[in-house]
This record gives sequence, C-alpha cells and structure tokens, in this order.
Amino acid sequence: MIDVKYPEGATPIDPDETEGLLLTHITTQGELNRWEQDNIVEAFAWIEKTKPKNIFNEQFIKQLHKRMFDNVWKWAGKFRRSDKNIGVSWHQVPMCLQNMCDDVPIWIQTQNESPEEMAVRFHHRLVWIHPFPNGNGRHARLMANIFLENVLHGSPFTWGTRDLSSPSELRRRYLKALQEAATYFMAVKTMMPASIHLMALAGTNF
Ligand SMILES: Nc1ncnc2c1ncn2[C@@H]1O[C@H](COP(=O)(O)OP(=O)(O)O)[C@@H](O)[C@H]1O
Ligand SMILES: [Mg+2]
Repeated sequence: MIDVKYPEGATPIDPDETEGLLLTHITTQGELNRWEQDNIVEAFAWIEKTKPKNIFNEQFIKQLHKRMFDNVWKWAGKFRRSDKNIGVSWHQVPMCLQNMCDDVPIWIQTQNESPEEMAVRFHHRLVWIHPFPNGNGRHARLMANIFLENVLHGSPFTWGTRDLSSPSELRRRYLKALQEAATYFMAVKTMMPASIHLMALAGTNF
C-alpha cells in the first residue's frame, strides 16, 4: 500500500479511494506524482488536438479529469462520494457545478470583468466546489487555462510557471491568495486584490 504524504492545502484521500490506484507497483509519493504528471501531459496533448470550447458542462468537467488521471486512478472523472475539509457537501457537487456552469456565460456576456478576472473567479469557484476525490487543484488550474485560451482567446496563466502541487513558497502564496479570494468573493467586492492576480499571472520571481 502506498504511503501518501500530503502537502499543505492538499485533500487527503479516503482509504477506499486509495484502493482505486490502478498501478499497484507504485509504492512512493514520488512515483505517484510522476505517473500522474505523465498522465496530465497526455491530457495536454488531447486539449491541443481537440481545442475544446464547450467546457461549461458536467460532461466536459468530468471528461477532463478522466483524461488527466485515468491511467492512475479508477475514480478519475467520477465525483467524490465523501466530504472533505474543503468543498461543498458531496451531495451538492452536481447542483453547485450546474449553477457555476449557468453563471459563467453570464459573466462573459455582461463583460464586467477582464478575461483574467473571470478566469481567476472561475478557478476559485471550481476548486471551492472540489468535485473530485483528488486532483482538484490541477484540474481547476487547467480548466481556467482552457477557459482563457479557447473561450476568451487570451493567454493562459503561468500559475507561477513551476509545480504548484509540491510544498514550496510558491504553493504557500497560491493557497494564501485562494484564502483571500474566498473572503473577497463572499463580500461581493468589485476590485480584485492584487494577490489574486499575482497568484495566477506572475512568473517565478513573484
Ligand atoms: N483554503 C482554500 N481555499 C480554496 N481552495 C483551496 C484551499 N486550500 C486548498 N485549495 C485548493 O485545493 C487544491 C488541493 O486539492 P486536491 O484535490 O488535493 O488537488 P491536487 O491533488 O491537484 O493538488 C489546491 O491546489 C488548491 O487549488
Ligand atoms: Mg492532491
């Protein structure tokens, strides 16, 4: 059985979800990370080839997660069936996602915000719902970039250009910005704090 080590802000996987590991030869977190990353690279190629635009629906959201993790996890592309320390109650995941998918086209139509602001808002909303047992951060960062590139015809975020999944100063700042985003979005303020932009846009030197 793999001994999974969780960085700060990562969602612990339930024991029954750990049993969904398809690659039984994996015994360390490092091996798991590498297999997941290889799988995600395959998903990048699929996005490059198919250039999806119709992304605000449950089917695409699940399909992307499946493409990112289906070599590694049996539950890739399936919603979680337990509650986590982040996210809505698992019973509410489909409804909250539906509300989000209904809202985003309205943001695009009303043009109150820049593409980058909409992408950051969208990223936060999706990661806050936390639809899957694991991989929500990586999935929601990629969703935000597909939104920016394929729907809004902008440039994708660098997300700091480095790996945000492992413990680092960059990850610490990213998580802090997400926490600030929660306070900000709940207060329905109109100006985004600079840190939230930095989280998504800045390069390695932020
Ligand atoms: N306080 C928070 N508020 C909003 N989102 C958070 C918070 N803490 C962590 N997150 C998000 O949850 C992600 C971790 O969830 P997880 O399913 O383990 O994703 P991954 O396996 O891709 O890292 C983080 O990358 C971040 O996007
Ligand atoms: Mg994780």
